[in-house]
Amino acid sequence: MTKRDYLTVDSLTSEELAKVLDVADEFKRDRRPRDDLAGKSIGMIFEKPSTRTRISFEVGIAELGGHPVILNASELQLGRGETLEDTARVLSRYLHAVVVRTFAQSRLEMLAAAGTIPVINALSDFTHPCQALADLQTIREHRGGLEGLKLAYLGDGNNVVHSLLKAGALAGMRVAIGSPAGYEPIPQVVDQATRIAAHTGGDVFCTADPLEAAADADVVYTDVWASMGQEGEAAARTMLFRPFQVNRQVMDAAKPDALVMHCLPAHRGEEISADVIDGPNSVVFDQAENRLHSQKALLTFLLT
Ligand code: CP
Ligand code: NVA
Repeated sequence: MTKRDYLTVDSLTSEELAKVLDVADEFKRDRRPRDDLAGKSIGMIFEKPSTRTRISFEVGIAELGGHPVILNASELQLGRGETLEDTARVLSRYLHAVVVRTFAQSRLEMLAAAGTIPVINALSDFTHPCQALADLQTIREHRGGLEGLKLAYLGDGNNVVHSLLKAGALAGMRVAIGSPAGYEPIPQVVDQATRIAAHTGGDVFCTADPLEAAADADVVYTDVWASMGQEGEAAARTMLFRPFQVNRQVMDAAKPDALVMHCLPAHRGEEISADVIDGPNSVVFDQAENRLHSQKALLTFLLT
């Protein structure tokens, strides 16, 4: 069997994505221990901090009967100059898959190319495809479907939005991105999402006007203005991103019952106001919970 990696959302087809989401729902309904991953060891390498991804993967692997192996990047020989390729070859002799959070997407691609085990992207500077699975599961459970819904994302054109664009397009959603000039999503990703949307009945739209993006939206989503590794730019970004804060005014432009989403961690008073993230339409903790169920579904899809 050829191995399947999960490096970007479109590593899955539309049909496969829907199947993974169905299994995620089943796992949410019944969280009893399973043995799908019995005898399998899954490595986890995190080169950046994490609360949700790290814990949900570790718990999820254990709930599926597998053995999570937590590898501290700084304690691996990788930190002393062993190549990524040799590391991938060695890990492939012990493990059945590896979950990796890193900086450059190319590091994930190198690991995947050199090794013989599935590599799962647990966030890179470029994409966050595991987040997008939980995002779609959450929207589906609150709205009963995805096709034709308008998803508005306000803020930085970052890793989270790159995954959301493709995931939304694969699911036939209308994705509107509002970001300040110079902080738009990468044009190639917008083009890819647009091409995907052409086949699924979805739509992709980018604007520098936050209210235009949010207009009549079914879902309003945001993320931090400065991602991990961009802390030095935080002050400059705060000024520029202020008009893109998800607050009452933005929510008034969306549908009255629009869902409020954030991948977390959140900064209240920056990218989102406290009344909105803590308000009745917020589903951010369902999103966080669904990381567990959707990643369990992904693991069984890739490994069984
Ligand atoms: N949303 C998310 O990936 O959170 P963590 O950085 O805590 O894993
Ligand atoms: N864009 C954020 C997402 C954190 C889950 C970051 O990369 O820091």
